[in-house]
Amino acid sequence: MMQEVELGQALPPPYKNHHASLPSSTHPVPYSTQITPMGSYSGLDEAEERLLTGDGNGNGNEISSSDVKFEIRDLTRISDKSVLILNKLNIDIPKGVIMGVIGPSGSGKSTFLRALNRLWEPPSQSVFLDGKDITDLDVLSLRRRVGMLFQLPALFEGTVADNVRYGPQLRGKKLADNEVYKLLTLADLDSTFFSKSGSELSVGQAQRVALARTLANEPEVLLLDEPTSALDPISTQNIEDVLVKLKKEKGMTMVMVSHSIKQIQRIADVVCLLVGGEIVEILKPDRLSEAKHPMALKFLELSN
Ligand SMILES: Nc1ncnc2c1ncn2[C@@H]1O[C@H](COP(=O)(O)OP(=O)(O)O)[C@@H](O)[C@H]1O
Ligand SMILES: [Mg+2]
Repeated sequence: MMQEVELGQALPPPYKNHHASLPSSTHPVPYSTQITPMGSYSGLDEAEERLLTGDGNGNGNEISSSDVKFEIRDLTRISDKSVLILNKLNIDIPKGVIMGVIGPSGSGKSTFLRALNRLWEPPSQSVFLDGKDITDLDVLSLRRRVGMLFQLPALFEGTVADNVRYGPQLRGKKLADNEVYKLLTLADLDSTFFSKSGSELSVGQAQRVALARTLANEPEVLLLDEPTSALDPISTQNIEDVLVKLKKEKGMTMVMVSHSIKQIQRIADVVCLLVGGEIVEILKPDRLSEAKHPMALKFLELSN
């Protein structure tokens, strides 16, 4: 899995039909009504609502499309057995925000995340990064720009430094020691980790090494699939602190699946609730109690 991301092994040929990507300025906008019949946007002010739904009304107040990192348009996945896994997801993910994704297990959260860096190949014209259809991009460069962390870090053999150097090395770039140290610091690891081997690390430390390794590719977006659910509270806090710092200092955009409402409330700017492959709520984490969908309320109740 990790190797799939890091090595960027070629996926099967995408079944795309080579549409030119739409320039963002002429991108069709009226998606808000297509979200889902259940869709609601409780807790967002009007501007945010327009941004997230791509529903500009032409009054000049809308946030421009250049502030959107990912546009998701009618993203649908039907399994080989004709089961609907994702049902017409429509959402704009603004630049430089942490978007939390919550939902019951099996609701499609991982599938949604994996569509954003083509670990699952989405249909063409359904995922746009900076206005460009991602199925038209080189998949390896896409995965450098859109890094990913999973629940369990899988480090490669060798030292922490070897791991951190891995991505750049694939592109023929050897990181100097001081560059490796910088990345370790960024991931909240001190210099003593440099020459440790993966087997000497706790899961929490290994997760931070995995983060440093991903950061070595200088990603613009981080996809985080329950990155702290195997970690103790202190390691969880370390990772959360790093994510918030990356957002603040580097303007990185993040999409994070989490089972913890408390975590979402600590670090996310906006939260999206997936139920049965549909986005049923998009709202601010501190206004979850205003959600209309019963599952949102249930999540909130269980987290207290
Ligand atoms: N490759 C696949 N083939 C068929 N069904 C899949 C595949 N991947 C996931 N699914 C199904 O899609 C649904 C959503 O899965 P997933 O995205 O992993 O949900 P979550 O991350 O929210 O738990 C589940 O019912 C799962 O069984
Ligand atoms: Mg999952």
